[in-house]
Amino acid sequence: MDSLVDAEPDTPTLTRLSTGADRAQLHDDVTSLLIGGSHTSAPAGAWTLILLARHPAVRRRLHDEVDRTVGDRPVRATDLPALDLTGRVVRESLRLYPPIWLFPRHTTGETELGSHRFPQGAQFFYSPYALHRDPRWYRAPDTFDPDRWILDGRPAPPNGAYLPFAAGVHGCPDGDFALAELTLLTAAVSRRWHLDPVPGSRPRPVAAATLGPSPVTMTVTRRPGPGGVFPGPGS
Ligand code: HEM
Repeated sequence: MDSLVDAEPDTPTLTRLSTGADRAQLHDDVTSLLIGGSHTSAPAGAWTLILLARHPAVRRRLHDEVDRTVGDRPVRATDLPALDLTGRVVRESLRLYPPIWLFPRHTTGETELGSHRFPQGAQFFYSPYALHRDPRWYRAPDTFDPDRWILDGRPAPPNGAYLPFAAGVHGCPDGDFALAELTLLTAAVSRRWHLDPVPGSRPRPVAAATLGPSPVTMTVTRRPGPGGVFPGPGS
């Protein structure tokens, strides 16, 4: 960002930012975007591909959807509405393995929560990982089941039961973007490749700053596109 500001000194916005007090803010915003946008999507994408490898029947259906929708051309943003199952797979993967698994909050005033009273400034942690596996809202909560998101008249989980992007003023500003990005990524990879953990390797969640999988070696196999054609390089 410093290079951008230095390289474009005549741009009014950048001039203001590079000379004014906003520079620190700009630095913080860019850092938040870079870290917030990559350290979350990466484990989410990894878990999605691992879950697909563990559930071949879902993966076959996803391949059908991707082949039908995308065919032999590259995936496009305009494919999103037709990538219905792919979107549900991503949503379900974020339910089971929310990249940010623990949120800190503190009370800004005296607060009542359940039957407890807390003073201003009390520190809380809450976990979407735990919320997402609550059997009150999710049947067989530990099971990977993208079809649970087809509601068919059943009530959706209540507000607060699905929080991969947190909520409120500090919630993720780019949740919709992330869902779209992950759906397109899953479709683009699945269109051309099978990814399977090598036999005997069972990636498990590692609860660090984000909830990534433990190191896993995947075998990558090229898959034929619709009609048995192998897409060429760059497609
Ligand atoms: C699967 C992908 C993602 C997940 C699970 C995710 C999740 C979250 C969560 C839970 C927070 C709030 C943290 C808290 O309340 O303490 C957050 C904040 C944020 N996210 Fe995301 N995020 C994702 C992708 C992205 C992407 C792609 C971008 C940008 C392109 C992004 C930008 C941000 C920023 C800038 C914040 C800070 C907002 C603030 O403090 O006001 N995130 N994200």
